[in-house]
Amino acid sequence: MRRKVIAGNWKMNNDLKETQNLLSRLTSGISVNNLNCDVIVCPAFTSLFEAYTLLKDTKIKLGAQNMYFETSGAFTGEISAAMLKSVGCEYVILGHSERRNIFGETDELINNKIKKANASGLKPIFCVGELLEEREAGITEKVIEKQIRSGLKDISSEEMGNMIIAYEPVWAIGTGKTASPEQAEEVHKFIRSLINDKCGASISENIIIQYGGSVNNKNARELLSQKDIDGALIGGASLKADSFIDIIQAT
Ligand code: PGA
Repeated sequence: MRRKVIAGNWKMNNDLKETQNLLSRLTSGISVNNLNCDVIVCPAFTSLFEAYTLLKDTKIKLGAQNMYFETSGAFTGEISAAMLKSVGCEYVILGHSERRNIFGETDELINNKIKKANASGLKPIFCVGELLEEREAGITEKVIEKQIRSGLKDISSEEMGNMIIAYEPVWAIGTGKTASPEQAEEVHKFIRSLINDKCGASISENIIIQYGGSVNNKNARELLSQKDIDGALIGGASLKADSFIDIIQAT
């Protein structure tokens, strides 16, 4: 049985005060040491240390939204894996579609980041997903296969055991359009088969594959009840304590 993993991707929202308010509503709204699933929050870089301080005595885990693959040096504006670890991060989202499509991140860059995160003891939440025109052209599986194969190039089976994959159809992110549970399940099953080809049954049966894209407290239960959907990566609905708590409870 895979344990469900619910992650909140706050994106470029919440300054320090707003972070304190949201986390205080979250930690007072659920039983933080008795969660029935794993819960991760991914605030902006500037709020990570504060979030770590506020969450350190709870079971809620901390993740960052991005990092760079170099260790240190002249990379203005970038953040290293060691810096994230030093402020208490356990996870890092890599390959999010906004990084790919707005900031031009390539599969190769994402692969380098995944390698560095693994080598540094951070657990990557590796995002893949097709654009609307790719789905309409019937090439969803081809796109996902390329993202998975290139993103996970030279990643060992042992490292795979450390990772989460998030399937986020780009047309469903922040649009209010969710993939139907059947559409999502179909791609999740396909991703699991790719992992099976790469690393065998034991890793593929155990790897967590989250769904993301307009998940909310109304559609979460049905999505999360699909066989291969092991959790959710949540943007908009993670910014309100009530809706995030409802989704956690839907597990
Ligand atoms: P959304 O974002 O829930 O607002 O669609 C999900 C994501 O981008 O991770």
